[in-house]
Amino acid sequence: MLRFFTSGESHGKGLIALIEGIPAGLPMAADFINLELRRRQGGYGRGGRMKIETDRAEIISGVRWGKTLGSPISLLIRNKDWENWQAAMSEDQEFDGSVPPVTRPRPGHADLPGALKYAHKDIRNILERSSARETAARVALGAVAKSLLQELGIRTGSYVTSVAAVEARITPVHKNEDHLARLFQKAEKSLLRCPDAKATELMKQAVDRASARGDTVGGTFTVFIAGAPAGLGSHVQWDRKLDGLYARALMSIQAIKAVSVGGGAELAGMKGSQVMDEIFYSGKDKSYFRNTNNMGGIEGGMTNGMPVILNASMKPIPTLKRPLRSVDISTRKAFAAAYERSDVCAVPAASVVAEAMSALVTAEALLEKTGGDSMAEVIRNYNAYRKQVQDF
Ligand SMILES: Cc1cc2nc3c(=O)[nH]c(=O)nc-3n(C[C@H](O)[C@H](O)[C@H](O)COP(=O)(O)O)c2cc1C
Repeated sequence: MLRFFTSGESHGKGLIALIEGIPAGLPMAADFINLELRRRQGGYGRGGRMKIETDRAEIISGVRWGKTLGSPISLLIRNKDWENWQAAMSEDQEFDGSVPPVTRPRPGHADLPGALKYAHKDIRNILERSSARETAARVALGAVAKSLLQELGIRTGSYVTSVAAVEARITPVHKNEDHLARLFQKAEKSLLRCPDAKATELMKQAVDRASARGDTVGGTFTVFIAGAPAGLGSHVQWDRKLDGLYARALMSIQAIKAVSVGGGAELAGMKGSQVMDEIFYSGKDKSYFRNTNNMGGIEGGMTNGMPVILNASMKPIPTLKRPLRSVDISTRKAFAAAYERSDVCAVPAASVVAEAMSALVTAEALLEKTGGDSMAEVIRNYNAYRKQVQDF
């Protein structure tokens, strides 16, 4: 069983990421985790915070001499900004009241519901944890999951498909792993993680226009998982269905408002005959295959051997330069929300976070299938299962 948690406040000492259930003997390097953290920090339209932080993960436990031990792996990402926040975020009661409370909830944030739920009169006690700074810890954990998947030939990637009203022109060849890999490679070179160079330019302009007006933008992206065998997840119980697990994981990312699989919402308006991925058999390759992938690689809550395709929509960033109306919780008087240092667009970063969450869900489903406490055992069981599918 794979379990993982994050902890830490946005301006606290740092973030902690903890994962248990990774088998022993998996090569693990902080360098790869740091590379992934770097990818999350990029993208056009980010705010000042990204210039302060160059995230680095320290491996605190669970790894010895470059390989996992099978014990819980914990990672620490220090907040560089902490030195400026020592009094404001101190755990010491001596500092109580040394900085004024935040009493003005921002629309679109956890501020008001969180203050009401936890009975906090200082909204900082909510926003410090609800902030998307937490996603750095998820990306670090995702890097651990990706390391496992890579050992088994499973790759994850993502690319941005729209920012504001600008849509990328991408041929949706979701059945072809090489095509997906090429889209990913192009995305990695784009400031907006978009494989369409022309659209990237228009997206940049849309971000600039929004920024000049004191506004923000959202967008959409696709995550893929290529190389996974058929049969991860299960149809037998609602909470084992893999599409449901991916949807929960992606929806839990800050500002994600919709998630779909494969053709997603568009399938609803089409005919069954246009949509279903018909089944063929190749005697030469001794395998079943499809010519389309509208189901996004999942049927009945299980992978079907085609690439898994997940799409997500991110709302515009809720903190704007242009004031939004809200009500002060100390006076109950109306005010116009003040600006804080903030992103104008974080769609590229969100796509990297979604890759991480998808990798974690895939790794969990995979380990459920194979079992195994060491990588040798996992690989042995994995190969045996693949042969079973091949010989079926
Ligand atoms: C990578 C990433 C970066 C974000 N950056 C900001 C930001 O700079 N300012 C902001 O107001 N919201 C930002 N958000 C969105 C908020 O964290 C999010 O909207 C808020 O926590 C409320 O959660 P909800 O939108 O899921 O309801 C970001 C989200 C992500 C995924």
